[in-house]
Amino acid sequence: MAISASIHPEFYTVFSPEKIAEIVNYLDTEKEIPFKFCYQGNMVKEWEDFNEAQEKARLSSAKTDDKFLKNICIHLFQAETPCDRWNIIDIGAGNPGLVKKLVGTFLDSNILNSYIALDISQGILDMSRTQLTEWFPQLNWQGYLWDFERKTIPESVAERRSDRPSEKIENLYLYIGGTFCNVKDRLGVLKNIGARMLPSEWLCISFGVDYIGSKNKEFDFKTHISSAACRYIIKLLGIDPKDVEILGYFDEEWGGYKTGIVFNEDYEFKFNLQEGEKIVYLNRGDRVTVYRFFSYAIESDTSCPAIFEDFRKAGLEIISYRIEALLSRVMIVCQLL
Ligand SMILES: C[S@@+](CC[C@H](N)C(=O)[O-])C[C@H]1O[C@@H](n2cnc3c(N)ncnc32)[C@H](O)[C@@H]1O
Repeated sequence: MAISASIHPEFYTVFSPEKIAEIVNYLDTEKEIPFKFCYQGNMVKEWEDFNEAQEKARLSSAKTDDKFLKNICIHLFQAETPCDRWNIIDIGAGNPGLVKKLVGTFLDSNILNSYIALDISQGILDMSRTQLTEWFPQLNWQGYLWDFERKTIPESVAERRSDRPSEKIENLYLYIGGTFCNVKDRLGVLKNIGARMLPSEWLCISFGVDYIGSKNKEFDFKTHISSAACRYIIKLLGIDPKDVEILGYFDEEWGGYKTGIVFNEDYEFKFNLQEGEKIVYLNRGDRVTVYRFFSYAIESDTSCPAIFEDFRKAGLEIISYRIEALLSRVMIVCQLL
């Protein structure tokens, strides 16, 4: 007899009915709960703590990204910019501290029209608004819910260019923090972003990579945020933690890191969906993937033709490509082809 899980009431409050239907469908058909659902409820606090730890660390990917943004800013000020003002479009706006300096510099220089946070999670948008407007009360903060894996970028992002009829306003898109490698269809996501870009606009993106043949593929999943995400899912789905194991590994076939929940018992989940009850069974030995991170393999000279090819296929041309060697982090600036 399968164990009948009692779904935690929070599951129904933290996700919208559409998201619940999507989660249940993923669980049922692909034995997966995509990581994009792990930025809600208690996980918002986990992300805040993660950001804080990155800030305190001597060396961290967030610090590398911070320098990347500073360089972009310096270049923008030195170059002859084609517009009077910018909208900063923060795709996946979960670290307000990271954009603090950039936003402040743009405001001080009187070249910011608005800062636009785009995110799948209302909790993250709320955190972004609270922090950024506290630091900059004069900031024109805008925020929109958007799932970059499902839809093209919201139209409002294009409309903000017309906020001041006498001025030319362009968008500067930031997609920082590695989330690009968490998705199944990376090209689809790039196309969803590029859909409303203008030829003169920039997309700045950063993510982790691995040197070809690097040995550290056994990632320390127990302390990684993906384990906290698995624990949150275990709680929401009403699973007894004793009946499952959290396991992280490098999936050679797919080419990236995964963390998931492995079942040691048969389980039955009864979900209340808008269209009625849906029962999902997971059996002993089943693995539900929660986290995935595709790992682009770079050569020892730091080149990576696969990255250039993927961006080109998505209609984007890389105009700046840099690697931070110690942390193996790539920082890219691209434009429409
Ligand atoms: C790892 S955090 C990165 C935050 C920040 N940009 C940084 O560099 O630290 C990822 C952010 O992307 C958002 N996100 C994840 N998947 C998303 C999706 N499919 N659509 C929109 N936002 C998403 C999360 O809610 C979160 O705020």
